[in-house]
Amino acid sequence: MNPIARLYKSTIGKKVIMAVTGLIMVFWLLSHLGGNTLMFLGQEWMDAYAHKIHNLGPLLWVMRLGMLGVIVAHIWSAIAVTRISWAAREHSYKGGRKTNVSTWSARLMRIGGIIIVLFIFWHLADLTLGWVHPDFKMQEEGGAAAYHNLTVSLRQIPVAIFYMVSVIFVGLHFSHGIQSGFQTLGLNHPKWNGIRKMTSWGLGTLIAVGNIAIVAATMFKLIGGE
Ligand code: HEM
Repeated sequence: MNPIARLYKSTIGKKVIMAVTGLIMVFWLLSHLGGNTLMFLGQEWMDAYAHKIHNLGPLLWVMRLGMLGVIVAHIWSAIAVTRISWAAREHSYKGGRKTNVSTWSARLMRIGGIIIVLFIFWHLADLTLGWVHPDFKMQEEGGAAAYHNLTVSLRQIPVAIFYMVSVIFVGLHFSHGIQSGFQTLGLNHPKWNGIRKMTSWGLGTLIAVGNIAIVAATMFKLIGGE
């Protein structure tokens, strides 16, 4: 078997796929957050941003399909690693061991992962496709009328709460995921562990708090107009 096929089949290979795809999503979500903060600058900025994204044309579809591949690979490797760890646990239970220290955080990662997937489905149906949006609009020049669409969506209290709860799970999932991702990729020296922890909690908090600020400001009519 060639080295790439061997890596792909091994547990560590699956963990590397999970770590690399996770880190790609962290960068994507940071840039998404950056774009969304344009809500604070007003309609002109936010809609110009949506228009620019729309104008990427075929490149936008390459990026979308690339991200879809990244998400599928991340979920596939997470399920595969979970199955391996469950099988190992069953084996060790037979040997008399009854506890597993990482069970709770692993369980939180799985529940968080499921909530994030459900959120992404809703979010796409809401703001990209307009299927569940009460008044979805496109700009005449092309691209979604992002400022209007977001304002209308987030002024619905249950929707805003769902967004806020979901991004808390995104932040928690990222904090834990970034830590284990760095570990998988070899950044596991006692000298680096403090920085690893601070970076992962810092990024997770930034993603949760930054997104909550946008949702709350829109819900409380601090932005988006009357
Ligand atoms: C809660 C804060 C968020 C806001 C205000 C927000 C806003 C938006 C808006 C306005 C769009 C549509 C852009 C357009 O079609 O012009 C969009 C698309 C999208 N968002 Fe978000 N988003 C948020 C959080 C998230 C999170 C946490 C994720 C992932 C976990 C995410 C994933 C996506 C994806 C995958 C798209 C589709 C991108 C595309 O059309 O290619 N968003 N978001």
